[in-house]
Amino acid sequence: MIRGIIFDLDGVLVSTDELHYRAWKRLAEDLGITNFTKSDNEKQRGVSRMASLEIVLDKGTVSYSEEEKLRLAERKNDYYKEMLGSLDEGAVLAGAFDTLKWLREQQLVIGVGSASKNTPMILQKTGLAPYIDEVSCGLDTTLSKPHPEVFQIAAHKLKLSAGECLVVEDSAAGIEAAKAAGMKSLGVGPYYQSLGATYEATGLDAPIVWEELLQ
Ligand code: BG6
Ligand code: MG
Repeated sequence: MIRGIIFDLDGVLVSTDELHYRAWKRLAEDLGITNFTKSDNEKQRGVSRMASLEIVLDKGTVSYSEEEKLRLAERKNDYYKEMLGSLDEGAVLAGAFDTLKWLREQQLVIGVGSASKNTPMILQKTGLAPYIDEVSCGLDTTLSKPHPEVFQIAAHKLKLSAGECLVVEDSAAGIEAAKAAGMKSLGVGPYYQSLGATYEATGLDAPIVWEELLQ
């Protein structure tokens, strides 16, 4: 029996996945990498900032020291935060507010499980924070999805066992992480059919029969 839902953030609750792409693209261009594409960006879905940086650097020919990599990741984050400056409720994806309201009415507890270290700020700015009971994010974890750590921490904070949690994700790494944690999953987003999730839907605005998923 499912008692809690753990939502990924970027690309599930908010449309920030597009901003991540633009910020990485800008960094890539700074470095003379002109062939960083949307399809490279798809590999960054769900993975940590440093792992995402490696995906950009793989497109170029230059090697960087660990210290330089940290500075590059910081620069990307500055670009990203600049873009987040005007973030508000409008960035919340269709169906997210209604879904969260309905789930809470059903007495379910709600967690967020995201790789992003910007999670608390994004939840505040978009007005999502009041709907979330517990947050597990890049600030809590040491291991990146597909490792299950982020969802294990979320379940622990929600005081639930893995079998009582359902994860909602838009990334293959996230679905793999949910599986590794022993949790069922709902795959959403542009690649929902190829993620290997337990259940599939185009997004939270799709006609999801939640009663079935919660059994
Ligand atoms: C994930 C995104 O949610 O967070 C990744 O899908 C991103 O693309 C990762 O790299 C880390 O985010 P941040 O905000 O800590 O750089
Ligand atoms: Mg995501």
